[in-house]
Amino acid sequence: MTGPYPDWDMADLEGKYRVHKLWQAEDKDALVARHSGAIRAIATRGELGASAALMAKLPKLEIVSCYGMGTDAIDLAYARANGIRVTNTPDVLTEDVADIGIGLLLAVAREIPQADAYVRAGNWRKANMPLVTRVYGKRLGIVGMGRIGKAVARRAAAFDCEIAYFGTRKHDDLPYDFVGDLVDLARGSEFLIVTLAGGEGTKNIVNTEVLAALGPDGILINISRGSTVDETALLAALESGAIKGAGLDVFWNEPRIDERFAKLSNVVLQPHHGSGTVETRKAMGQLVRDNLAAHFGGQALLTPVA
Ligand code: 8YV
Repeated sequence: MTGPYPDWDMADLEGKYRVHKLWQAEDKDALVARHSGAIRAIATRGELGASAALMAKLPKLEIVSCYGMGTDAIDLAYARANGIRVTNTPDVLTEDVADIGIGLLLAVAREIPQADAYVRAGNWRKANMPLVTRVYGKRLGIVGMGRIGKAVARRAAAFDCEIAYFGTRKHDDLPYDFVGDLVDLARGSEFLIVTLAGGEGTKNIVNTEVLAALGPDGILINISRGSTVDETALLAALESGAIKGAGLDVFWNEPRIDERFAKLSNVVLQPHHGSGTVETRKAMGQLVRDNLAAHFGGQALLTPVA
């Protein structure tokens, strides 16, 4: 295992397998070298993935089971080329991640953390809080219309938002406007929520031009991967007021994020916790374990990626 899972998963895994805990090893290379001839599975997490370098050290490796939907940190090309199966945990986390997307939008626009601080500090007794930004009925651009994008759209529809989206293709079955150019989508939107998969194809896709098009009244929400947003451009836009604010669950360099974020008053920050509810994490852990059990029991994988 590359990183810990909750106790309920650890107990089950340790009952069924010999578990080697990479995150606890002082010398990780030594741990891998010591057990390289025996390790048949990697249980990893979305943000930790599995590099080609790690997989190459494990000649008996058969499967990488990922606790998370995003497999951008797993070298899928290496896995495929070497007959290593890969599984992830789609669907079970969709609704929680969408919830946090809307939650962050409300938090930034309505300034919920600032309002909380205002009340706690006793400022309300002295004056009313300055007015904030409405969410209801606004123009929302969704970047990426996969499972999570669709779940965000369903929620935003209940807020009577005008919904448009950018993605790899137009979905004829959806009642929202498809915009094939991300800068155009940003220009026409008051809020952007990024739900794309990470990886080379989407790296830094939200760049200076997109942020400029979103404009000084615009709010950016990122619940995808830090890599989808050019963070240098984002920090500059937040510091200069080129956009109004941002709600961020994901960053480059997690968990050691750029210290400039904590100095900004126009951001709401989350510790990559979109799927971080007890309910969803239980379902994710179960799916990881079910995929491993299926593999070693000679059954079809439940959620294969490779
Ligand atoms: C998790 C995720 O935070 O699903 C993903 O791709 O990033 C998240 O659900 C992570 O994988 C848990 O470790």
